[in-house]
Amino acid sequence: VSLQGRNTFRVPAKAAMMADVARAEALVELFDFAMLRDGPVLVLGEGSNLLFAGDFPGVAICLTMAGIRIVADDGDSAVVRAEAGMNWNDLVAWTLARGLCGLENLAMIPGTVGAAPIQNIGAYGVEVGEFVEAVEAFQRDTGQVKRLARADCELGYRDSRFKRETDRWVVTALELRLPRRRALRLDYAGVREELAAIGAGESPRPSQVAEAISRLRTRKLPNPALLGNAGSFFKNPLVPAATAAALKAEHPALPVYPAGGDEAKLSAAWLIEACGWKGHRDGDAGIAAQHALVLVNHGNATGPQLLDLARRVAASVRERFGIALEPEPRIIGARFDPDAG
Ligand code: EPU
Repeated sequence: VSLQGRNTFRVPAKAAMMADVARAEALVELFDFAMLRDGPVLVLGEGSNLLFAGDFPGVAICLTMAGIRIVADDGDSAVVRAEAGMNWNDLVAWTLARGLCGLENLAMIPGTVGAAPIQNIGAYGVEVGEFVEAVEAFQRDTGQVKRLARADCELGYRDSRFKRETDRWVVTALELRLPRRRALRLDYAGVREELAAIGAGESPRPSQVAEAISRLRTRKLPNPALLGNAGSFFKNPLVPAATAAALKAEHPALPVYPAGGDEAKLSAAWLIEACGWKGHRDGDAGIAAQHALVLVNHGNATGPQLLDLARRVAASVRERFGIALEPEPRIIGARFDPDAG
């Protein structure tokens, strides 16, 4: 089965088999088949956070359930339950239309609801983890659908238990507790400028913030529908505060963000741009001209070609700055190692 139309890098890849799943309970029966019980399984959302460096030797599962409803409401906040197959931005719009806020800064992130907690999606000063009430997931080793409270999800920066134990869980639904009022987060660079551009006043509505964020993303990030990509290809590296201070002394323009405790987060985009990669192109594999953190497929690049470029980018950043970059999307069929390939 071809997966080329099912990954936003639009690279050619195949799975041995594909199954559509329309109900969480159907997973229980499906995983009774030996091929799924014992073999590799890949849950495909919209394929917006994956790089196929090879074919997938097992079964690709597509979750198609996309229901959404309010399951609790105390007046100040409500708990929204959405099923894994729903488009993320549709969830954002649904909640804003009902007067619930919190997700406005996360407008227009590509992908499904099920993928959101796995990598704890975040943008413009907000992470979905702040709102997670619970995650429902099929647990492969017990064959049961479980509800994991937020504390059991081990959410971190672009990280969760589901990401670390990727072969163990199939996320089937997400419950978010969303407030009716809250202080909006407008401090991220560019947000206020976009709000001014759409004529929002001193106290914008959450839906206006979502619109401003959408404009910002459209300006800053290549649209995966037009140019194959998976958003940021590397995480912003977390380093000891002392390492960040030393680098900052040498490179005053390097953006450094406090990350709590004794750590700081560096801008991977800045490090990559400083190494001269922004807009670089090897055949159809490239680094976006708009944003140095985004690996792009200009047409016919293959997964291995994109991976090779990403490895060379990481190797050069390590060489020049002594910083190891980690990929953000999941890489299928290869390990990411700047020394390989
Ligand atoms: N910068 C450069 N060169 C560039 C782009 C950016 O030097 O080509 C520097 C600038 O100084 C800029 C800073 O990097 O101020 C930060 O850039 P940006 O605001 O675009 O954010 P980012 O840190 O590169 C992260 C997320 C994005 C998210 C934005 C906005 C990660 C890995 N990426 O990128 O998330 O949209 O912040 O919040 O944390 C994604 O995860 O796929 C993703 C797109």
